[in-house]
Amino acid sequence: MNKRFLTFALAKGRMAYTAMDLLEKAGIHCEEMRDRNSRKLVFVNEELGLRFFLAKSPDVPTYVEYGAADFGIVGKDILMEEGRRVYEVLDLDFGKCAMCVCGLPSAKELLCHHEFIRVGTKYPHIAKDYFFNKKHQTVDIIKLNGSVELGPLVELADVIVDLVETGSTLRDNGLVILEEICQVSARLIVNQVSMQMNSERIKQIISAMKEAL
Ligand code: PRP
Repeated sequence: MNKRFLTFALAKGRMAYTAMDLLEKAGIHCEEMRDRNSRKLVFVNEELGLRFFLAKSPDVPTYVEYGAADFGIVGKDILMEEGRRVYEVLDLDFGKCAMCVCGLPSAKELLCHHEFIRVGTKYPHIAKDYFFNKKHQTVDIIKLNGSVELGPLVELADVIVDLVETGSTLRDNGLVILEEICQVSARLIVNQVSMQMNSERIKQIISAMKEAL
């Protein structure tokens, strides 16, 4: 048996515990990682030959591309934005939301006549691809790091490109979905070299996770 540890990088935040639940269902346990008070960064399951760590979601594909992690669990939004060279092997069917253009209802017409508008977003690549390549609309993209819904409220941006899950952030702020760009959900990703070198173990893990879905 290959004794090398295989490593999982999980995106921190609202998806982390759902990812842990799914791993557990697949027989991949790491109870230690659930301790919210611990500041420990890397967790090991000696018995299974597996290691786990939590990272900021945009960093997960980076760890996987460079081989610091063999597997990653992260949202499709992050994969689209980061464009890392990794294999996307499974749609995990949780963390479902939509990437949308949102704004005040009055902003709808700004999207119809190729107007030069300001777009606030945490996802500049996705926004650029959508406006420049799909809509052929020249826009000014303003990169923000969170609470993007503020943009139209304080007149920093005409519209935003952001994730909508329940829609309550939009509702509470008088904003609406103007256009949907795509649906997103959590994905299992794999390092390209690991896939060749550890194909048996990797395939076993992918099958176990598929079964657990
Ligand atoms: C995300 C997203 C929206 C909100 C959507 O932000 O960027 O702001 O959740 O969820 P809802 O449709 O259920 O209201 P997050 O909570 O990750 O915080 P951030 O905006 O500070 O990044």
